[in-house]
Amino acid sequence: MKRLLITGGAGFIGANFCHYWRAVHPADRLVVLDALTYAGNLASIDELVQSQRVRFVHGDICDRERVASLIREERIDTLVNFAAESHVDRSIEDPQRFLRTNIMGTHALLDAVRSAWSQPAEGGFRFHHVSTDEVYGSLGPADPPFTETTPYAPNSPYSASKAAADHIVRAYGHTYGTPCTISNCSNNYGPYQFPEKLLPLCIVNILEGRPVPIYGDGLQIRDWLHVHDHCRAIDCILRASGAGETWNVGGGSSEPNIRIVESVCDLVDEEFRERVELKSRFPRSAPAQGRPSRSLMQHVRDRPGHDRRYAVDGSKVARLGFTPQTPLAAGLAATVRWYLENESWWRGIVSGAYRDWCAREYAAS
Ligand code: NAD
Ligand code: TYD
Repeated sequence: MKRLLITGGAGFIGANFCHYWRAVHPADRLVVLDALTYAGNLASIDELVQSQRVRFVHGDICDRERVASLIREERIDTLVNFAAESHVDRSIEDPQRFLRTNIMGTHALLDAVRSAWSQPAEGGFRFHHVSTDEVYGSLGPADPPFTETTPYAPNSPYSASKAAADHIVRAYGHTYGTPCTISNCSNNYGPYQFPEKLLPLCIVNILEGRPVPIYGDGLQIRDWLHVHDHCRAIDCILRASGAGETWNVGGGSSEPNIRIVESVCDLVDEEFRERVELKSRFPRSAPAQGRPSRSLMQHVRDRPGHDRRYAVDGSKVARLGFTPQTPLAAGLAATVRWYLENESWWRGIVSGAYRDWCAREYAAS
């Protein structure tokens, strides 16, 4: 039986990880620590918290004493760090908070486990740090995909802050023997993703009849990883990897942004053709107004310093036992359906109502 501390567990990937872990390892103890920034949404794990299958603690990863005492109190043996500022566009607007949370916060967590894990645990301790393929920078069209030995060359304040955190994690492992692993994954998609990221933004804007912005020419290439596959990859790493290793995790599905957006538009149109009630539920949407969703696509000014291409070589983690199982077309279709079925989840975010709800429900957590 493991006792996990999941930092950032109210965010997109962390929440999916809580649902995944609860279903696959029902005997394990799960504690979530999350500061509930704009990106944290307790509605994503509310059912688990209310049924006491997850304990939620409202707190900041930068508070090392609080984290250390929580680790001691809960006898945590595995910390999975998802907590971060994660949106590149916001890092361009305001880098400061990215440096604080992503660098100083990761450092505080490392110090907390160093002080709390002084006695050896029976099954061993593990600090798993969730990072990004963006630390490797941008690839040219003919470059080979990123491997674990590709030199770091981050280009945005976000990816630079993640790169710095990765170096600190590695240094703690090397210097103090902190039992660390790192995974660098590609662009995730799936349920519970905040609608500022490309896919959910695209779906929500189509349903609201708003333009779908394509940065620049839209030919930037990303490798799309379904979040459930990502959760399986982390599980595999926690079970099978020794400390001191890093792992690249990709979805094996590289596509230009514009193709992804076109696919999402077509999938929404298909749902509207098959389900007549959608027209009355989403009267402002393009298909309800008799227009294809692609008519909402609009090229806008490119992101400054926009990385052209990411691609991940997943052969190392494949040898450990993980390969992605969700084909992109099926994953996109399931994601579109999830947003159609979970309108109240994203409406709450779009209207800002979830912040008031979290403040009321969890004021004392
Ligand atoms: P997210 O923005 O959806 O969620 C981040 C969570 O961290 C939120 O719940 C937020 O409240 C919490 N948080 C932020 N600052 C905190 C602090 N100081 N203390 C405690 N909690 C804090 O992010 P995500 O998309 O779920 O990403 C999770 C991790 O995966 C991040 O480290 C990100 O860099 C990495 N990653 C994400 C992607 C992706 O496509 N989403 C790809 C590669 C790597
Ligand atoms: P995003 O979801 O922000 O993830 P990241 O920047 O971490 O890769 O963006 C994915 C890609 O989509 C990225 O190349 C930027 C692009 N993009 C758009 O073209 N339009 C948008 O409105 C957004 C949010 C992103």
